[in-house]
Amino acid sequence: MENIEKVHLVVEEKYFPPKDIVEECIVKDYESMYEKSMQNPTEFWEEIASDLYWFEKWEKVLEWDFPRAKWFVGGKTNITYNCLDRHVKSGKRNKVAYIYVDEDRNEKKYTYGELLELVNRMANGLKSLGVQKGDRVSIYMPNTVEAIACMLACTRIGAIHSVVFAGFSEGALRLRIEDAKAKVVITSTYTKRRGKKIHLLETVKEAIKPLNFVERVVVWDRDGELDEEEIDNRMVKLDKLIDNSSPVCEPEVMDSEDPLFILYTSGTTGKPKGVLHTVGGYMVNTYLTTKTVFNIKEETVYWCTADIGWITGHSYIVYGPLANAATSLIMEGVPVYPHPGIWWEYIQKYRVNVFYTAPTAIRMLMRFGEDIPAKYDLSSLKILGSVGEPINPEAWLWYYKNVGRERAVVVDTWWQTETGAHMITTLPSYPAKPGKAGKPMFGVDPLVVDKEGNPLPPNTVGYLVIKKPWPSMLRTCWGEPERYEKYWKEIPGGYYSAGDLASIDEDGYIMILGRADDVLSVAGHRIGNAEVESAIVEHPAVAEAAVIGKPNEIKGESIKAFVILKAGSVPSDKLVEEIKDTVREVLGAIAVPDEVEFVDKLPKTRSGKIMRRVLRARELGQELGDTSTLED
Ligand code: WTA
Repeated sequence: MENIEKVHLVVEEKYFPPKDIVEECIVKDYESMYEKSMQNPTEFWEEIASDLYWFEKWEKVLEWDFPRAKWFVGGKTNITYNCLDRHVKSGKRNKVAYIYVDEDRNEKKYTYGELLELVNRMANGLKSLGVQKGDRVSIYMPNTVEAIACMLACTRIGAIHSVVFAGFSEGALRLRIEDAKAKVVITSTYTKRRGKKIHLLETVKEAIKPLNFVERVVVWDRDGELDEEEIDNRMVKLDKLIDNSSPVCEPEVMDSEDPLFILYTSGTTGKPKGVLHTVGGYMVNTYLTTKTVFNIKEETVYWCTADIGWITGHSYIVYGPLANAATSLIMEGVPVYPHPGIWWEYIQKYRVNVFYTAPTAIRMLMRFGEDIPAKYDLSSLKILGSVGEPINPEAWLWYYKNVGRERAVVVDTWWQTETGAHMITTLPSYPAKPGKAGKPMFGVDPLVVDKEGNPLPPNTVGYLVIKKPWPSMLRTCWGEPERYEKYWKEIPGGYYSAGDLASIDEDGYIMILGRADDVLSVAGHRIGNAEVESAIVEHPAVAEAAVIGKPNEIKGESIKAFVILKAGSVPSDKLVEEIKDTVREVLGAIAVPDEVEFVDKLPKTRSGKIMRRVLRARELGQELGDTSTLED
């Protein structure tokens, strides 16, 4: 295992949070609360869960039958009841839940009362289509409150939603609908990016052509532009469902361990995994982490810039903020349109207190210079969150100085689709170290180990594992229980293996260095090397492909593909473009390689596995390392 100094340059400096922020913090004493969560987890979690409403209380907090966990065993609840009804019943009917803004600066506000009514109507609408508890519903929607309402409508009636990021292509969408065997797909006529319409319904129509099990497609006809003849017998308009349904829908009584949603994420094979989360534990931990990491109070205005198509959107745009009765901003569009100061404009306009974004966005906005944020009044900001990839100290400091004006605190939150909620993060009440995520969240017991599972000394890079189950952990991979077991069996010792490299310093701060496996992080998006490779070989001229990640100043990593052509095909620029188009069609724009190089041979082990490590070292001019298993 390499020594840390060789790998990463860290600015070894602690940034103490301002006094007034510490005084306002819900958690002032992290250490003692963490200690309690470790020493007395039952009492700790009972207290947190008791903030929420349960139709029937749980009998037992945790049942751990390695590697399967059940949390709040026997508890009955409904997450939408806790996200909506609970607030409406306690006098917050008119509190704003979401302020939606589009790319043309149009805004629309939704109060908790209005959102509850919308969700209930949609839930009844879904019922009228025959959707029942346990059925899967795929959602391919723009980043809007309507999409959120669709998610909540599913969970209201116990249907399992599977949101597919609306930037994914037809192929990626089909795979996800097919794997989940969704009965209904919900979509919209379009979304808008950089002023351009992206037609989502067309993609859905193509994706489901061969899928007979999809009974209905619900379409949000945003501008009322669909002609009657465009509507086939599988299609129904969302507005019609809403208008024809009652605004009252009793929430389905859900067991703690009933499935809540599936979200597909990349792994080391070509097929994405359907990460399954369940109701009780996910609800409790997204509630707790949102509250304590972002210090959500009655008056807080909160903005997470993620898309609901990713786990960050699920946990920190939808469920966590709603469970805390927060007021959130949600934007449809990109951070640089109509101008590169649009985010700062909105922070000023809506007096945003908590802002949560990704390092790739910060690095992109950095390029436009500090004069741009300097034009805006950002004095409302108190907490700045980061998520999705390691934040390099340079970006951290820029964020802290130019956005936070050295007054707001930066919290770097490490977690995964699988963990459901924050796992390692800085809390606003204790000093942050740029480049280090921070300390474990409550109830999280991390360790850095070698391949054999032996703990490593401080400041040594190793594999990040979690020793004990936590409430919002994934329960399985949809239809592939063996893939779930792998997380717990990868490294000896019975730990959950995160797939990341990390090190812990003397103060207990954890630094995440990136993936340890064949998973790329491109602009904060998780993409499997194998996924891109199998997309490339769909091009008829390609015999074989290998994909590596290269360090990229803005995106973190960029994709380079090495391609062997079939006999008779000749390398050309045109072929490069065609290969890129193939990836765009199969997976979507986020997975398109920046570079394609044609080669005659790929480095392989004697058993025929491509050694991407060797390709990467050669590409970056590094030493090749151990090549004893190399075939030739
Ligand atoms: C990476 C996103 C460093 C990590 C929430 C992890 C991070 C993967 C951080 C999960 C962070 C996420 N610092 N790396 N603060 N947050 N990652 O499932 O490699 O899309 O394993 O979940 O993103 O990506 P996922």
